[in-house]
Amino acid sequence: MADTITVKAAAKINLILDVVGKRPDGYHTLKSVFQSVGIYDELTFKITDTKKTVLRCDTEGIPTDGTNLAVKACDAFFRYSKKENPGLDIKLEKSIPSLAGMGGGSSDAAAAIKALNVLLKTEYSDDILCDIGEEVGADVPFCIVGGTVLCEGIGEILTPLPHMPECSIAVAKPKAAVSTPECFKKFDSLEFKEVKDISDMIACLAVSDVEGIGNNLFNSLEKAADIKEVKRIKEIMLSYEAYGACMTGSGSAVFGIFESKRDAKDCIKELEEFCPFTVVTKPVEKGIIVDD
Ligand code: C5P
Repeated sequence: MADTITVKAAAKINLILDVVGKRPDGYHTLKSVFQSVGIYDELTFKITDTKKTVLRCDTEGIPTDGTNLAVKACDAFFRYSKKENPGLDIKLEKSIPSLAGMGGGSSDAAAAIKALNVLLKTEYSDDILCDIGEEVGADVPFCIVGGTVLCEGIGEILTPLPHMPECSIAVAKPKAAVSTPECFKKFDSLEFKEVKDISDMIACLAVSDVEGIGNNLFNSLEKAADIKEVKRIKEIMLSYEAYGACMTGSGSAVFGIFESKRDAKDCIKELEEFCPFTVVTKPVEKGIIVDD
């Protein structure tokens, strides 16, 4: 029996993030188009006999205790399946930056849920895996499904959309950042909240119009995060002929959509001077890739 599995967990960006309301429990409801992009964490899961989950990660600032979302996801999986934890060793290699709004922790959680479904031979459908994921975090159901998806509710109501057409996506994360709860709190205190109709973005996806997608990028949380470098990065991206540029999630990473890979790469060269994380990537159709 295979007792080890390696899984790649993709980052996400939000092509549109429109905050539309607030639930009594404090969570915000959204209309958001999520897109998986080709930046991956890699996780190796090994069944042991210690009856404990042990997570190892060399990246500074990543918790390795029960607060890590991958560990929380394993706990949620064992609870749902009513199976006893035989013991798990998780090796996590991070490439997705933290405090970026790129869903790194959520994607690691999604990877854990997909991996346990294989290792424990539970054969749950994606719908069930998403229910387990929702308990762990609002973005986890999307990360389980991946691709191009309209997410509503707090992120748990998923409607797959036509795949984003091929293009180059430059991503830059400045030093400054705000946490997700802090960003939503600042959003609540905004006097004027911008809104955006998502139908134009959906129409552009339907006809693979990269320029239209770039022109319709929007994020309600950008004004709330209020990070100076976000504005500067956007201006630089637009000066290199990006079709559009926008902050992703609760920030602080910014992405720009380019027709030309050369323009995206030239732009990144300038952004590298003050951004600790920069990359040129592309849209991908899968969130979690399981190596059998
Ligand atoms: O679910 P997740 O752990 O990603 O959310 C972290 C925090 O971000 C929540 O506790 C909440 O304060 C805020 N949040 C929100 N509305 C969402 C997602 C997150 O208010 N849709």
